[in-house]
Amino acid sequence: MAQIIDGKLVSRSVREDIKKKVDAIPEGVRRPGLAVIIVGEDPASKVYVRNKKLACEEVGYLSREYALPAETSEEELLSLIDTLNADGEIDGILVQLPLPRGFDEKKVIQHISPSKDVDAFSYVNVGRITVGDADFVPCTPAGVMELLNYYNVELQGKRAVVIGRSNIVGKPQALLLLEKNATVTVAHSRTVDLPSVTREADVLVVAVGRAKFVGADMVKEGAVVIDVGMNRDENGKLCGDVDFEAVEKKASYITPVPGGVGPMTITELLKNTFTAYSRHIKE
Ligand code: GUN
Repeated sequence: MAQIIDGKLVSRSVREDIKKKVDAIPEGVRRPGLAVIIVGEDPASKVYVRNKKLACEEVGYLSREYALPAETSEEELLSLIDTLNADGEIDGILVQLPLPRGFDEKKVIQHISPSKDVDAFSYVNVGRITVGDADFVPCTPAGVMELLNYYNVELQGKRAVVIGRSNIVGKPQALLLLEKNATVTVAHSRTVDLPSVTREADVLVVAVGRAKFVGADMVKEGAVVIDVGMNRDENGKLCGDVDFEAVEKKASYITPVPGGVGPMTITELLKNTFTAYSRHIKE
């Protein structure tokens, strides 16, 4: 039976460390500040944004939320980003995705100053990750690395397989694993004979967005299985991309859903915001 990787536990531990650093900021010196922009009424996005605000409050950051109507023009949004880029109290700017139809997401994201791009979506930050010189790392893959590190999972020389090649998870995840000297394969929807590829993995990271996509037949005995998925099963219950009940019998470590990677994402956002703050406060 696999050992469960407890994302809530690791997240709590990292947030306590952040809070200690915030508590140590001298009187009269400003705290880290995060601005979150949400456009429109997407219910899932509203929940995420609320959780980001609560997390900021928990560790003592300044948190500002800008909730704009879906009819907001792109120029207005870009102008708000300009204002926040120049705002001395704000270290991190996050535009919650997806944006409503009609917005050029790429253009909006690239408008955020790279020094405040705590999602690490800007071309500068993506390039820095590629050459192993990143200030910020996208929150989900960073959270996965934090979990692997906390549970002392050896990566050097190991075979790592990432299923999924998105810009937010799969691609940066592969680069971070490579940075730790794993031998990395990125598999995706066009991969031929996926089970034969995933059965090679000592570490398997799954980010495909399909409920219980990975069964026990796709996993090597003793593999470490990280599930980035967040889906609903046929009964409406939250579940990941991995068939947890089947795979936990075969894996050495496994993340549950919920309670695995999920809790780490916002924690990594808090870490990136502190990194941005540490740089800004020296300027
Ligand atoms: N929507 C879903 N995930 C994310 C994320 O990591 N960052 C932003 N900005 N929006 C998202």
